Amino acid sequence: MKFFIDTADLDEIKQAESWGVLAGVTTNPSLYAKTGGKLADFEDHMVKICKLCEGLPVSAESQAKTTEGMIADGERLAALAPNIVVKLPICEESLPATHTLAKEGIRVNMTLVFSAPQALLAASAGARYISPFVGRFDDIGDDGIQQLATVVQCVKNYTYGYWDEEDGPEIITASVRTPNHVTQAALLGADIATVPFAALKKCLRHPLTDQGRERFDADWAKVTGEQA
Ligand code: E4P
Repeated sequence: MKFFIDTADLDEIKQAESWGVLAGVTTNPSLYAKTGGKLADFEDHMVKICKLCEGLPVSAESQAKTTEGMIADGERLAALAPNIVVKLPICEESLPATHTLAKEGIRVNMTLVFSAPQALLAASAGARYISPFVGRFDDIGDDGIQQLATVVQCVKNYTYGYWDEEDGPEIITASVRTPNHVTQAALLGADIATVPFAALKKCLRHPLTDQGRERFDADWAKVTGEQA
């Protein structure tokens, strides 16, 4: 499974990139707002992210409400950098926009997906990535991983004829909150998990790893005669 980072924060992206594990970036309007960014700087900010992660897919979300607006946004965003992926919310307006953009070779990440029928519609319209949300189900007392399992199984049962079969559509496990979400997504064969930096750091840590390192340091100090 590939790791994307779910943030618009340039420092977080730089740090995650330095780990050598990053395969992509997803942003959304809330994540951009969190950086304090303004509308006038949005496209420049997306370009900065694209430059930090050259060659890796970077999702930039359109806030257009009409099909025409989404297509225009998609074409403009895609022209900013070759690694831009246009993020659109699943809805009646975004399906034809996705279809048009896919035919132009522009990749769409269909977001706010909460059901298998939505995911199948996204795939049929030509979405290159589909983002089922996990954590927001858990937030309302539902089982996000069970929902993800249904989406993965349904989407992977078919091919859709837009992208190389090996290439897509890929499922991005979104709204990830915990390391267990990452484990479960990988067990289900989801292609990607997009993980906020705080959760990514949690994935790296384990108390037994910390304990083990402390013990090795203490024992090595006996070997070197230095204080641990
Ligand atoms: C997906 O790409 C979204 O940006 C994201 O995963 C939403 O997560 P949230 O539910 O934590 O806001």
